[in-house]
Amino acid sequence: MSLEKYFVNNLIDITSKAAISCYPHLGKKDKIIADKSATDEMRKNLNNLNINGEVVIGEGELDEAPMLYIGEKLGNGNGPSIDIAVDPVEGTKFAAENLPGAISVLTISEKGNLFKAPETYMNKIAVGQNIDEDVVDLDFSIKKNIYNLSDFKNKKPENISVCILDRPRHEEIIKSLIDMKVKIKLITDGDVAGALLVSDQKYDIDIFLGIGGGPEGVIAASALDAMNCRFQGRFIFETDDDVQRAKQMGIKDLDKKYDLKEIVKGDSIFCATGITHSEIVNGIQKKGNSFTTETLVTHKSQNLVQKVQKKFSI
Ligand code: FBP
Repeated sequence: MSLEKYFVNNLIDITSKAAISCYPHLGKKDKIIADKSATDEMRKNLNNLNINGEVVIGEGELDEAPMLYIGEKLGNGNGPSIDIAVDPVEGTKFAAENLPGAISVLTISEKGNLFKAPETYMNKIAVGQNIDEDVVDLDFSIKKNIYNLSDFKNKKPENISVCILDRPRHEEIIKSLIDMKVKIKLITDGDVAGALLVSDQKYDIDIFLGIGGGPEGVIAASALDAMNCRFQGRFIFETDDDVQRAKQMGIKDLDKKYDLKEIVKGDSIFCATGITHSEIVNGIQKKGNSFTTETLVTHKSQNLVQKVQKKFSI
């Protein structure tokens, strides 16, 4: 079974409208308002879709409305059962500061096919197309991953580019990368887009790695799956609360390393609309009352990977 093609257009409209609703709040130094307006818009439009939807990746968990929470039912009920992962504003700080990199993202799959991820951190690793299975692995040391990849790609380590979030928790990894003279791209936020940089040679990123949000990991994984890239993730449960919630969500082995195919199964549709400009999509352009959006869309079963521009008059 695969997802109907017409969802693609519907979903492009939904992330586009969420991005547009965020536009008045750009640079207002208020992450919450920017996120809330995109969330409200996304919820409203998802509720008009012909689906029996359920949020499996959201912002907060049950009873934490008004955010789109895990378990929330969406859609008008007249259609297939669908899992939905949302991040109405990925890179809320970018939006609040009107900096490049804010996107509005969602992914859908058929019911039961998207991993229900708790709101914890995830250790992630991603590489692009045509890389053999055993070249990089979350269980290898950083050095082994870089040297393996450098051998496999027949490139010197100094010509290997790594994308990683700039965080104190990555100090050791970054030190190790510097020792190997690897080219490092440090991103301040937005690791969905960071992970997607492995998907096309034009971004010149050979490997994405490090610890970021678990929900962001699942969303990125769905796009990477459609683009035939590789991804692994391992959740990090720091507190008793985290462990408790993970168990409630049915995660038995807390140390499990998940391969892409365990995170996203079957067909999926992913949309990321630029709010502000970024490497993967242009930000919103406003002319009078009209807004032009750019959306990166993937539809796995259709081998669709495309950037779509759309004009909205509001
Ligand atoms: P928000 O848009 O929710 O603020 O997330 C931004 C982000 O950079 C994600 O892309 C990333 O996965 C996560 O935050 C990293 O978390 P932290 O800032 O706690 O290191």
